[in-house]
Amino acid sequence: MDHFLYRSGTLHAEDVALSDIAQVIGTPFYCYSTATLTRHYQLFTEALSPLPHLVCFAIKSLSNVAVLKTLGNLGAGMDVVSAGEYMRAKAAGVPGDKIVFSGVGKTREEMRIALEGGIRQFNVESEPEMRALSEVASSMGVIAPIAIRVNPDVDARTHEKIATGKSENKFGIPIARASEVYAEAARLPGLDVVGIDVHIGSQLTELSPFEQAYLKVADLTHRLRAEGHDIRRLDLGGGLGIPYARNNEAPPLPTDYGALIKRTVGDLGCEIEIEPGRLISGNSGVLVSRVIYVKNGEGRDFLILDAAMNDLVRPSMYGAHHDIVAVEEPAAGTEQQPYDVVGPVCETGDTFAKARPLPPLAEGDLVAFRSAGAYGSVMASEYNTRPLIPEVLVKGDHYAVIRARPTFEEILARDTVPEWL
Ligand code: LLP
Repeated sequence: MDHFLYRSGTLHAEDVALSDIAQVIGTPFYCYSTATLTRHYQLFTEALSPLPHLVCFAIKSLSNVAVLKTLGNLGAGMDVVSAGEYMRAKAAGVPGDKIVFSGVGKTREEMRIALEGGIRQFNVESEPEMRALSEVASSMGVIAPIAIRVNPDVDARTHEKIATGKSENKFGIPIARASEVYAEAARLPGLDVVGIDVHIGSQLTELSPFEQAYLKVADLTHRLRAEGHDIRRLDLGGGLGIPYARNNEAPPLPTDYGALIKRTVGDLGCEIEIEPGRLISGNSGVLVSRVIYVKNGEGRDFLILDAAMNDLVRPSMYGAHHDIVAVEEPAAGTEQQPYDVVGPVCETGDTFAKARPLPPLAEGDLVAFRSAGAYGSVMASEYNTRPLIPEVLVKGDHYAVIRARPTFEEILARDTVPEWL
């Protein structure tokens, strides 16, 4: 459920008409709904209660500081994967003891920044990383709390580019070697082993891969405790999928996911951490774009939009489906017709959808890509020197631009020309 609905014939974000925002700030733009973000975050906290838990929002899915502050104010923790994301969490006022640091290649500099600013735990992904963290923490005279990410060798049955839990993936240490690696962690100075971390992939549409992974984590918890480790936290990662195409997919609900967590690891007496990104941010955002031209091609009509693959890369990168709707509600009974929906970027990959049934659209009409809150704006680039598009946050009947569209002068000012030219 989200808060993007037609009212009086126009698609609204909560109580604000998307066409009104378009008129003021121009297109394209991303628009997020506070009520949807809030609701999705709360679904997780309700699903995990009464277990002691912390829902750490995966910042990589949507990193605008205003969004982070919205979630942080509700009590959310944050999952970061770079110093930049750590800075964003801090800028949003999230305390260090609610920030977990994931990622397969943390640099010593990133470790230092997080240790200085305060961190709940590092999710360590390899032995070399663990040794580096031990050195950095020791040299600073502090103790780094760590969980070790184990790779459970489970097939997440999702898109190959976003599956992370198979042994051939680059993530975590093989679960079979956990005893050895935890023993070394316990010996190293500057580290405090607090738990186990696992994350098997993204956009999972079934619960069984989670179940297989979490049962392995439960076993491992018993084993490591018997070996003398004080395992008190389990970070179970993110990955719960969302419905991208209406009436088509029905991924499991957070309540079912919560029940699964309770069933598999709920009696271990551990504090549970999860790192959802997409389920909180995905359906909380839309990308609004305007039709520049309708071009009649050979046997097909092209809808040429002012948004392109640089603004929303998921369709060209993963073949992902995003529902596209007209901002002005079509009259009941309007016949749909197929369009190839494309952007202005100079490559064929800049295609959002082929033969997509849509109501008849004309130059100047507005369309909205649904489910664009997660991995939309954060993956955008300035390819073709197209300015990064603005982000807007709606709350009730008001909205704010939370990232402005850069001017061409600002973009050009980032380049410097050497004095020999
Ligand atoms: N935790 C870790 C360690 C992760 O690597 C990820 C996502 C998450 C949490 C959050 O997963 P989520 O709940 O959002 O599924 N760009 C791709 C998705 C990449 C996901 C990477 N890791 C896409 O557009 O589908």
